[in-house]
Amino acid sequence: MNFLAFSGSLRNASLNSAVVRTAARLCPPEAALEVYEGIGSLPFFNQDVESTQPPAEVLDFRARLAAADAVLIASPEYAHGTSGVLKNALEWVVGGGELVDKPVAVVTASPSMTGGDRAQAWVKETLEVMGARILPESLPIACAGPKISDGRVTDETTLSELKEVIAAMARAAKARQDA
Ligand SMILES: Cc1cc2nc3c(=O)[nH]c(=O)nc-3n(C[C@H](O)[C@H](O)[C@H](O)COP(=O)(O)O)c2cc1C
Repeated sequence: MNFLAFSGSLRNASLNSAVVRTAARLCPPEAALEVYEGIGSLPFFNQDVESTQPPAEVLDFRARLAAADAVLIASPEYAHGTSGVLKNALEWVVGGGELVDKPVAVVTASPSMTGGDRAQAWVKETLEVMGARILPESLPIACAGPKISDGRVTDETTLSELKEVIAAMARAAKARQDA
């Protein structure tokens, strides 16, 4: 089973990037979770470019999504929404349909008490219109600062919750394969 995970933050000390790196370490042996780091290299979405000659970075991103059995997206919350870079990445995938019927888990890590729940709602709405199968185990991580150190999730409760997210991805991917 192949999982793809990416963070919507470009910040070096990103809490959300720490979440996807930790998810890769928590992945069970029967699955492999690849962390996609190229989101910041995707050009701004342009429908003219998409319909003529999509850039190699975009084709690569789309191919990785197409090959994944399930996807994990970790999003920061900026001004009550998701990041521009994440929204831009998703726009490149609308036309290709790589996320149609694909199990997708959404995690939002934020220093705030709401855990980035508004960004989470934003991302889910976009994914829903793209036809993704959004997993109910998606997770907001509130007051995330002290739960993450040295680029890794260290809080035991959050680690258990993250393991459950990955288990849900595996269950959904298997159910889709068996269907
Ligand atoms: C421009 C800007 C806007 C932000 N807006 C929000 C917000 O609306 N809600 C929130 O909970 N946090 C907000 N934050 C805090 C970010 O969620 C926080 O910096 C978070 O750690 C960013 O994600 P990252 O650690 O993955 O980079 C904002 C931060 C910045 C820089």
